[in-house]
Amino acid sequence: MRRHRVLHLSDTHVSRTGPDEDGVDGVTALRGLLRDLRRVPQLDLVVVSGDIADDGSEEGCAVVRDLVGEFAGARGIPHIYSTGNHDRRDGFTAALGCGHLGPDGSAIGRSAELDDVIAAVSEVNGLRVITLDSLVPGSPHGELGRNQLNWLTTELATPAPSGSIVVLHHPPVSLDAVVFMRSAVLQQPDELGQALAGTDVHAVLCGHLHHQLSGRLGQTPVWATPGVITRMDLTAPPALARGVLGACASVIDLGGPSDPMFHTLHARTPDTGKEVYVYDPVAGVHVQE
Ligand SMILES: [Fe+2]
Repeated sequence: MRRHRVLHLSDTHVSRTGPDEDGVDGVTALRGLLRDLRRVPQLDLVVVSGDIADDGSEEGCAVVRDLVGEFAGARGIPHIYSTGNHDRRDGFTAALGCGHLGPDGSAIGRSAELDDVIAAVSEVNGLRVITLDSLVPGSPHGELGRNQLNWLTTELATPAPSGSIVVLHHPPVSLDAVVFMRSAVLQQPDELGQALAGTDVHAVLCGHLHHQLSGRLGQTPVWATPGVITRMDLTAPPALARGVLGACASVIDLGGPSDPMFHTLHARTPDTGKEVYVYDPVAGVHVQE
């Protein structure tokens, strides 16, 4: 089995006008992170697991596509995207098609061609990359419908030469100690777990949480990568969400003796850790801690 090295980004939150709803400039965060990642060696592909555009706009998606595409194109590797809860399917499709782009920006994916969702598959040097669409318009949580799960089951029925990865925005795992997290992640995770059981999937790669988290869904490893725009600071009281600056990325090494291996890379920015907001998700208000 060939080894693969995946650069995993998520939650770029670029808007039509630049800053996100908290006033953080996603373009600056992404550009700085990609600059700091320029010496990461031997990458085979880049995946971006949703919340591409903070406002769901085509323009926001296009900016991310162009910045990530420049990074990927210089390395001759594909760049692949899934939707997030901030994305809108029309804006995503207009800029990214079904989300699977080659080094030159051309479409390389095969769409699931399901109504209302943007799921697709491609193969990168023998590694099958499947993107799912867990977006529920207007809601922070994620869902996968029966049609999408049936399509996934059909795709995975035949093993790929170097196995598969599944990319979706909402993690099918959560931390019980963070009281609001369960209601914000993928609902009915067991249904996804059943679709993955006994298949060649190395790992499920997710975003949404804006902090790193690993767990298992059945026997399948799950990884949530930190956000590009902000990072959730889990030293906050459990009922509060504290967002801080500090763009991050992950690298996932597949096919080696310890497959899969996950590690996190941090942008070298002087404002890392600076508080952006403290939010009470139950009351729906920003608070002073
Ligand atoms: Fe996000």
